[in-house]
Formats: sequence, C-alpha cells, structure tokens
Amino acid sequence: MNVYDSEQMCARLKPLGYQPVTSAEKADLIIVNTCAIREKPVQKVFSFLGRLPHLKRKNPDLIIGVGGCVAQQEGSAILKRMPHVDLVFGTQTIGRLADNIRRIALKKHRIIDIEMSPDIDSTDSATPENYNRDVSRFVTIMRGCDNYCTYCVVPYVRGREISRPPHQIVDEIRYLVNTGVREVILLGQNVNSYGKKKGIITFAQLLPQISAIEGLYRIRFTTSHPADLGDDLIASFQTDAKLCHHIHLPVQSGSDKILKRMNRKYMRSAYLKKIDELRAVCPDIAITSDIIVGFPGETEHDFKETCNLIERVEYDGLFVFKYSDRPNAPAARFSDKVAEDEKQERLSAILTLQERYTIKKNRALAGSEQIVLTEGFSKQHHGDDDDATTQYSGRLSSNKIVNFVMCSDKRTSITNDKRPGLKGELIRVKIEKALAHSLKGVAMGFLPEK
Ligand code: 5AD
Ligand code: SF4
Repeated sequence: MNVYDSEQMCARLKPLGYQPVTSAEKADLIIVNTCAIREKPVQKVFSFLGRLPHLKRKNPDLIIGVGGCVAQQEGSAILKRMPHVDLVFGTQTIGRLADNIRRIALKKHRIIDIEMSPDIDSTDSATPENYNRDVSRFVTIMRGCDNYCTYCVVPYVRGREISRPPHQIVDEIRYLVNTGVREVILLGQNVNSYGKKKGIITFAQLLPQISAIEGLYRIRFTTSHPADLGDDLIASFQTDAKLCHHIHLPVQSGSDKILKRMNRKYMRSAYLKKIDELRAVCPDIAITSDIIVGFPGETEHDFKETCNLIERVEYDGLFVFKYSDRPNAPAARFSDKVAEDEKQERLSAILTLQERYTIKKNRALAGSEQIVLTEGFSKQHHGDDDDATTQYSGRLSSNKIVNFVMCSDKRTSITNDKRPGLKGELIRVKIEKALAHSLKGVAMGFLPEK
C-alpha cells in the first residue's frame, strides 16, 4: 500500500516539475513514506531521517517531508525531534501534497498536515506514471480497516474502511495497461469487504469488470481476511481466467484462544475449512500467510498449535513476525507479554518448519511446463542487451519466481520483435531445477503459439 501511495505522491508532484532521481544526493525534495505496522520499520524511519541533515547543509533549498502511517501517528513530535524536516503529512492528506510543497518552497515555513476526517475523500486518486515500465503494479481499491485486530495499528493510522468507486479503479487499470502493465495487484486491508459499506458492487463482482480489460493478463489481490472470504470469491478462482492461482490468507495463529484475543473473528477449524474449499475449486492454488509469534499470552501449547496448523496447510510461503506493541492497539495493554528471546526462538522454529514446505512445493514443479509472465532481465544480468546466456525472470500464476534462459533453437523467434529484456510477455517455460526460493527453467515459446 505504501508503494501505491508513493506513486500517488509522484503523480501529484509531477505538475510542479519534480521527477524521480536515483539517489538522495541528487534530490531537491525527499519524502520518506513511512510504515507503522511493527516497531522495526518505525525505528528505521528515524535512523534514516537522522542521516539527512548533511544533505540539507549541502543544499539549503532541499525540502524534506515525512508521510504515511508514522507521520499520522507521531505528528508534531517528528518536527520537534527532527529540525531538518519541513513537512509532516498523514495518510489521508496526500491530495494536498503539491499545495503543501509549493507553500514550503515559497514561504520557507514548516507544515504539519495530518488531518483524519470522513470529509476528506481518501479515495481520490491521481493518474499514476509508469517510469520504470513495470509489468506488475499495485492498485488500491479500498483504504482503511474496520476490523480492529487487537495487535494492529492500521485502523488508527489509516482510518475507517472506504472503497474506491469501481469506474475509477477500472479507468486507472486501463490507463496502466496502456503504459505496458500486464498484471495488477488489487490492494486493500481487507479486499473481501470491498463495497459492502458503500452499497456498491462486491469484490467478486468487481473482478469481472477488471478481467474484461483487454491487454491485462493477470489479476492478483491482497489481503483477504479469512472471516470474510465468501463462496463467491472462492468460486472466482474457477471462473475468472485472469485471476492468479494464489491467495494470501493471513491466519496469524493456529490457537483458538489466541485468535480470540487477537479479535480475528474466526476459529482455526473455520480457517481450515476455507483452505479445503479453495483447494477443492482450484487444486493448484498457492496459499501464503502471515503469522505473529509471541502475541501476549501465547503459551508453548498455543505455539505448537500454530506449528501444527502450518503442517496441516502446507503453505507455499509464510511471513512470520515477532509481536510488537503498537500505540493505541489494545494488545499493547495486555499484561502477559512473551519474552523477546522466546519470540525469537519461535520465529526461527517456524521459519525452519516452513522451509520444508517451500522446498517441497518448488520441487513438485520440477520437470513440468509452466506459464510465466516475464518481468525482464533477472537480477544476475547487467546491462541492456540480450545474448545467448541472458537470464530472464518472471512469475508463475502461483507467484513463484522463475529465472530462465532461452532454448537455443527458439531464441531468435522468441527475442525477435520483442521489447528488450522481454518484459510483460506470457511464455511457456520448462522448469528444470527447483531451488529453495526460486525456480530455474528454459523458455519454450510464446503464449499463444506464434
Ligand atoms: N506485531 C507483529 N506483527 C504485526 N502485524 C500487524 N501488527 C503487528 C504487530 N503489532 C503483522 C500481521 C499482519 C502483517 C501485515 O503484519 O501478521 O498480517
Ligand atoms: Fe490490521 Fe486486522 Fe485490519 Fe488487517 S484486518 S489491517 S490485521 S486490523
């Protein structure tokens, strides 16, 4: 979501003449877009800001702004703590960014703009740019969250849930497709409740409208809340040819006691039932999840239940986080906190456990032919030219990364007439090797066959 918001900021600054640069040293304006979800990213914000004063000494006209959730949360405290910061703005006032910057440049005073109000249209969106010729882009479809999980800061820094109108989303994706985008990742804290409050169409009804956009090959979404994952959306995995076979379905814990204290509004058995239903309609669906270890009151027994759930589901991938207190979130006031070294141990244990399943899922693909949406040269490749040894990179529908080379007799036909770096093409790839975190393969031809 922050990536999308940063793009929104860029789009709003373009009319003032600002363009992205490759390093902070070259910038006339630096905006730090911050995340407050856990303690660590907040610490990173302050250490990054602490490294900026020397740039301001070199360029006295440099403007430094802090936006996003930490700005929303800390407000004037940032201006007090960081005298070199000129602007602090919140999650709902991005629409006023250009005005604020203009005022700072003219009058040289500091501004704080962190209003959070239902009167501000936070669904307002600027036409995004595609400076890097991205193949895949995030598109926010809703903002805020009404769920109030007890560990989470989001409802307090991003406000109440509000959905963007469908026509605005469709227009934005159409525009992006014209710039070369082939895949969109629809974003919301809880995409399943899209439209519910506003009485517009549901998320499952929005999908076909997006699917109908010509030139768009793939649709992904994140995140869906297990309690709100309805049959209609589950069915979409069968009916919508562009919907990727991947779902990120954060479970957070495998213990009913902890799920209740987290206010997650589902039980372990209900979650597992959804997993079974998803696999019944879409047998090759990749499933990933978020887990919090060391939530207040999590005993060894609760933790074992989480491990056991992981063994039962066999996730394709997991994001595991150590619980950290967040300001305003109720769990910060829970008394039975878990010791830091215990959290670390549980985190490591889950990562080790998951490694088994990540490798298992990757290995199951070895020898098969898969469809890859190409994203360009792989990280190992330097320069802009294609040659016989060039490695490209792309993703499967399941979101797994594949690095691949051209099959020698197909090379010319594959690279001819194509954009350099082979960006945004659907290609058949034979998977030759399964590594722990990626796959290696050989390209066999385009889709559809030429
Ligand atoms: N501590 C640790 N992890 C958290 N997350 C959200 N809040 C916290 C917190 N206070 C994790 C959840 C969520 C992901 C985005 O971040 O797992 O799904
Ligand atoms: Fe936070 Fe829960 Fe909302 Fe997700 S659903 S953003 S974890 S409050």
